[in-house]
Amino acid sequence: MSDEIKKGLLGIVVDQTTVSQVMPDINSLTYRGYAVQDLCEKCVFEEVAYLILNGELPNKKQLKKFVKNERSERKLSKQILRDIQKMPRKAHPMDVARTAVSLMALEDKDVKDNSPVANMKKAIRIFAKTPTALSAYFRARKGKKIIKPKKKLTFSENFFYMCFGKVPSKEIVKAFDVSLILYAEHSFNVSTFTARTITSSLSDIHGAITGAIASLKGPLHGGANEEVMNMMNKIKKPENAFKWINNALNKKEVVMGFGHRVYKKGDSRVPTMEKYFKKVAKIKTDKKFIKIYDIVKNVMIERKEIHPNVDYPTGPTYHLMGFDTDFFTPIFVMARITGWSAHIMEQHAANKLIRPLSKYSGASYRKVMLLNQR
Ligand code: COA
Repeated sequence: MSDEIKKGLLGIVVDQTTVSQVMPDINSLTYRGYAVQDLCEKCVFEEVAYLILNGELPNKKQLKKFVKNERSERKLSKQILRDIQKMPRKAHPMDVARTAVSLMALEDKDVKDNSPVANMKKAIRIFAKTPTALSAYFRARKGKKIIKPKKKLTFSENFFYMCFGKVPSKEIVKAFDVSLILYAEHSFNVSTFTARTITSSLSDIHGAITGAIASLKGPLHGGANEEVMNMMNKIKKPENAFKWINNALNKKEVVMGFGHRVYKKGDSRVPTMEKYFKKVAKIKTDKKFIKIYDIVKNVMIERKEIHPNVDYPTGPTYHLMGFDTDFFTPIFVMARITGWSAHIMEQHAANKLIRPLSKYSGASYRKVMLLNQR
């Protein structure tokens, strides 16, 4: 057995998956065989959620049933809503998301059942309830009344409605739907691998998703979309952008929203998200974010040959849609619950406890001395 260390599991293939394929050489990403760009243009988010969870795109009847099921599971119990209202106003919404999913486990009647049928039911419950929990906190921390979910609205429309009390134009909802489709799944990234690792001890889906949310929070993963907005706010205006980004690179700073462990020639999701970011910016008559976006991107590519990842265009898109910056990564959670759940079910179906080895580099063998001899 080789004791060569592969820090960060770099280049290690740990298992197989049928959920998605990242193909960095041809800059492509497919979910269950379908190109993600194609899914964005031809499907609504609910169809893609169904595809990720079930392996096939739904027909009309299957979609109707799935949508009905999701809409009927949106409500939270009075107790969880009360808990959310009592949460500190300065808490990070990612910690609220993590806690809310953990609380859902306490009430879920199938929590002990890891069968495929129970896991699918629980996945849909977590998928349907998480936006309700997040929007409740979005409003509660501003001292606003919580808005209940509305069954006649789509997943995306309902989230806007629960946050702002109204649904924006079709174009804005479509851009949001596209962002959710692009965020829904991405093979063995760190949060998905976390979910699979937790599952490998035969633990339950609530625990695996709670752990995955904790992993997604980090700025090297999902937390980057929030950091992109913080960077744009620091830059303030297009006139500052060129100097700012060059200074950051001179100081060898890591620029958030750029680079990727797998994609080295560009993230397959960026062209689609960039197109929808620019559409939203036009609708919102934005003059500054588009310019800052282009200047920073061009310098990063010209000076470092480092391309933007999907968090770069989603950051300013969510800002222009009216979401608070610290809600960007929780929105990513709402989408990725589908991918995590599919991986958790796949792990359960062909499980092997994940238990890598380590090379010991601590003190050499020594004997414990009695206290009065030390
Ligand atoms: N800004 C500036 N330099 C970057 C960079 C970035 N965003 N991403 C990578 N680099 C540089 C590194 O400093 C390193 O330079 P060096 O060889 O001179 O030391 C080189 O590119 C290789 O980077 P490395 O850290 O080995 O790549 P990785 O595959 O381990 O890291 C990320 C990938 C995602 C962790 C990294 O690109 C990053 O931190 N990006 C910012 C966070 C982010 O946007 N995350 C979301 C990912 S979807």
